[in-house]
Amino acid sequence: MIKPGTIQQIIETSRIEEVVGDFVTLKKRGANYLGLCPFHNEKTPSFSVSPSKGIYKCFGCGKAGNAIGFIMEHEHYSYPEALKLIAKKYGIEIEEEEMTPELQQELDERESMFAANSFVSKYFSKNLIHTEEGKSIGLSYLKERDFLESTIEKFQLGYAIDKWEDYSRHALSNGYKKEVLISTGMSIAKDTRLIDRFRGRVIFPIHNLTGKVIGFGGRILSSEKSTAKYINSPESDIYNKSKTLYGIYFSRGSIVKSDNCFLVEGYTDVISLHQAGIENVVASSGTSLTVDQIKLIKRFTQNITILFDGDPAGLKAAFRGIDLILEEGMNVKIVLFPDGEDPDSYVRSHRSSEVESFITNKAVDFIKFKTNLLLDETVGDPAGKAKLIKDIVETISYIPDGINRTVYIKECSVMLDVPEQTLMNELNKRLRQRFRRRTQTPEAIIPEPETKREISDQLKIDPLDIAAHEEHLIRVLLLYGNLTIKLKDPNGEIDWEGPVSEYIINDLEHEQITFENDIFNEILAEYIAAKEKGLEVDELYFINHTRTSLATTTIELIASQHNLSENWKSNKIYVKTEQDQLSNLTIASVLSLKSRLIGKQLKHLVEDMKVTEDDGQIFILQQQFFELKSIANEIDDVLSRTFNY
Ligand code: CTP
Ligand code: MN
Repeated sequence: MIKPGTIQQIIETSRIEEVVGDFVTLKKRGANYLGLCPFHNEKTPSFSVSPSKGIYKCFGCGKAGNAIGFIMEHEHYSYPEALKLIAKKYGIEIEEEEMTPELQQELDERESMFAANSFVSKYFSKNLIHTEEGKSIGLSYLKERDFLESTIEKFQLGYAIDKWEDYSRHALSNGYKKEVLISTGMSIAKDTRLIDRFRGRVIFPIHNLTGKVIGFGGRILSSEKSTAKYINSPESDIYNKSKTLYGIYFSRGSIVKSDNCFLVEGYTDVISLHQAGIENVVASSGTSLTVDQIKLIKRFTQNITILFDGDPAGLKAAFRGIDLILEEGMNVKIVLFPDGEDPDSYVRSHRSSEVESFITNKAVDFIKFKTNLLLDETVGDPAGKAKLIKDIVETISYIPDGINRTVYIKECSVMLDVPEQTLMNELNKRLRQRFRRRTQTPEAIIPEPETKREISDQLKIDPLDIAAHEEHLIRVLLLYGNLTIKLKDPNGEIDWEGPVSEYIINDLEHEQITFENDIFNEILAEYIAAKEKGLEVDELYFINHTRTSLATTTIELIASQHNLSENWKSNKIYVKTEQDQLSNLTIASVLSLKSRLIGKQLKHLVEDMKVTEDDGQIFILQQQFFELKSIANEIDDVLSRTFNY
């Protein structure tokens, strides 16, 4: 358990734009920040972060929350996990409790998996530095490869002892559960035993964006061909290979700073480049690049430079993956390494400055690169050249931006010696085909245009929708509670003056109204209690409240404020902005809720009358009905007369 005081400290210290900024590239727009939403696929930014309110909101997919909520949503973290992450970022100390079997029980499964991975990862590191086997086999191998101690430490490299039941046993005896060790994939159940997946291998821990170990890669040290050079953790609840890039945790800062990401093949390429001072680099770990991996990079930069060490056949196999990158609207460059060299070997045989200038000088725009490569192959082969032209145009057609497409068509027309118009016609043919394909599939993403009628139906709120009016009232309370209103009598004399909150609270208390939504009752009670303590109470107080239910509800209310007010505007409740007519807004929000609550009571009374046989009882119900009805009429009268409602 994290102490409430610490939670409060974390909330107060953290700044939403900094927390979100670690995951999303944000650009300042007026008082807010804007970026590409990490929760849905978009090409133009609609993800907004408000430092003053401490919340984020995506106007595309509707996701909203505070800093802690962002980490929970984005990293799929639990509440305490998110708090710990933010605490770490700001250097706020959280006392960690000892790992006991009881505590482990409490941790949710994912947390246990992270904990087990971290525990065993540290054990691997210790093996490498402190055991005879680790030193003589693992460490000497890494030294031979010119890895510095600081590098080994930074990437938390380790060594797995060459035994069947080494670390599994060690973890079990330290309270880590068998099921957890199995679910992370590091241990394998065999009969009643638990055996080690990694044996006699150098270990490369794989980290997620926040630096947690989600899996391992283990390299065999002998050159024998009988077992695979690398074995890797299998996929698990915390390790999704197609969404992970090796090195992203260590590289993301540098990727943002240099506004470019180098993409390499292997663990050792990432590490060697880091050691040479080139830190904006990640590896796809031998597999072809997935769309999720591309999106991961896209959060930090629009520019990818692929460092290729393959032969032409391998290169061509990679071309389709690169079309996917173009389709994301990103810019792709290619650096081809000399025969037999990969980034790792190149770094070891050259000085850092040479590596850097090599990469800068050799980087070629992908489409030009592909065109040139294929052109070389089709010299004196007209049929081959025709195929090449189609191939290149296909690639260009994946670029989402029309202007960029045109620029490439121009350049390729020169390179291929083919008229621009010919390429243009071919391009348009492809774009049309793709568009048709997309709209025909059932999962077509392009929505049918909605008719005006449908839209207005969506906007209309049910007049008996009490929930909407409760929401509205709470929102008025939170946003405008501290502003003063002056109410005038029919002669124009001021007969009441005070803050909006006082008016609302008095009125609700006087009429003994409670909300149907219990969270709203809690917010109201907390509002009153905090006021009595003399605290400054407004929406920020609730957005940053340590009770998550209150914070979440408030954020949803504030973030969705457009919806209801748009409806109300169309219903002519108020014409100008809310604050211009603050008094009217306040009174109307209380009255319209009351009117709805009464409407509901009336409905109940009618139903009761239908089923009641007793004449006396019916009489009482009728009395109540008429009393309430006259109040309702009065309210509706005021609403329509005063507020044009
Ligand atoms: N890989 C793998 N399993 C293999 C071979 C490769 O998972 N049997 C993945 C690893 O992530 C590896 C990457 O593919 O890092 C690239 O492979 P390779 O170039 O063979 O390995 P390097 O990382 O370059 O390792 P080394 O320099 O030690 O050969
Ligand atoms: Mn390699």
